[in-house]
Amino acid sequence: MLPTHNLPKGVQLFDHDIFGDKRGDLVSVEQNRTIPFEIARVYTIFHTSYHMARGCHAHIGMQQALVNITGSLTLIVDDGTVKSEINLDRPGRTVIINGLVWRELTNFSPGSVINCFSDKFYDESEYIRDYNTFRSLCATSK
Ligand code: TYD
Repeated sequence: MLPTHNLPKGVQLFDHDIFGDKRGDLVSVEQNRTIPFEIARVYTIFHTSYHMARGCHAHIGMQQALVNITGSLTLIVDDGTVKSEINLDRPGRTVIINGLVWRELTNFSPGSVINCFSDKFYDESEYIRDYNTFRSLCATSK
């Protein structure tokens, strides 16, 4: 586990092993083993642009793992008190987000591919997409 002292509450940073040889690279993600929850959903972000931000939302009771596959991006995570910028700049670099954390993804390099795992199915009604609403929820959940 990499140092987490300056990360928001509910955020962990580590590297998945990359199994590489002359044929190429492989990364394996296993529920309750390499990531700390059961996987309900996997989605992949690709064909992104450097200046376009994605995410810009929070969830209340969701666990997610963002596993960088190739390329790089900047992930901003914010629990309403602590805000960090994490560079996902190598294959296998992984961020776990558990609970009420605002997240933004930006500065995508050309060819960036990131796999996202969630313990919940997609439900738009569960998204908090307004930053002020997020801050109010942070204040009331302390
Ligand atoms: P969006 O939430 O804007 O993506 P991001 O979090 O990367 O900014 O989702 C873009 C579109 O994809 C939107 O129409 C909803 C849809 N979508 C799903 O159908 N399932 C999913 O698991 C996700 C994450 C998005």
